[in-house]
Amino acid sequence: QSQDNENVVWHSHNIDKAYRSDQKKQKPCVMWFTGLSGAGKSTVAGALENRLAELGYHTYLLDGDNVRHGLCRDLGFSSEDRRENIRRIGEVAKLMADAGLIVLTAFISPHREERQLVRELLPEGEFLEVFVDTPLGECEKRDPKGLYKKARAGEIKQFTGIDSEYQAPEHPEIHLQAGDKSVTELVELSLCSLKERQIIR
Ligand code: PPS
Repeated sequence: QSQDNENVVWHSHNIDKAYRSDQKKQKPCVMWFTGLSGAGKSTVAGALENRLAELGYHTYLLDGDNVRHGLCRDLGFSSEDRRENIRRIGEVAKLMADAGLIVLTAFISPHREERQLVRELLPEGEFLEVFVDTPLGECEKRDPKGLYKKARAGEIKQFTGIDSEYQAPEHPEIHLQAGDKSVTELVELSLCSLKERQIIR
């Protein structure tokens, strides 16, 4: 599609990313939470966002279930649709990082290739892959929405971890062993990593 845009010229504006984020004493970034359904992506990302907001940082959380009610309401769970889902979120996250925000995204994003494509959209150091690593057995035991039960019964097809593949990150910036740690611990670990990377001061 982008080939159709040869007559559209990129416009540079005066107020740029550095200016916007300096106002808030934060470096923009995209914290890309990935993991199985029920791993705790939304819970941890939400709790981390609360903590960052309390500390005065400017954030935005893009959440899978919510985005699928709006921006991506036309997409299902085939590989092609998941790919398009992640592409759109990546572009939106990039715009938000450009606005100077610490962006948190919570999508299963099961394929390495798509996560890599999003990484490549962003400048070096601005994409932080956060692996919410909860074993499948634990996610299935939690089953907060009853979806694993339905998937096992064949009522939902192409369910991640059951009959659709999840490719775990190989070198995530932040690896959260989320099966046996409290949400508070996971938030603190994430905050430490943001400080080490000088995303926050
Ligand atoms: S993806 O793979 O990144 O495009 O998925 P995502 O946009 O994060 O949406 C995942 C949520 O959709 C619900 N759901 C399913 N998940 C996986 N596979 C199938 N087939 C499916 N059908 C519905 C489910 O509630 C996911 O939410 P989380 O929060 O991950 O449990």
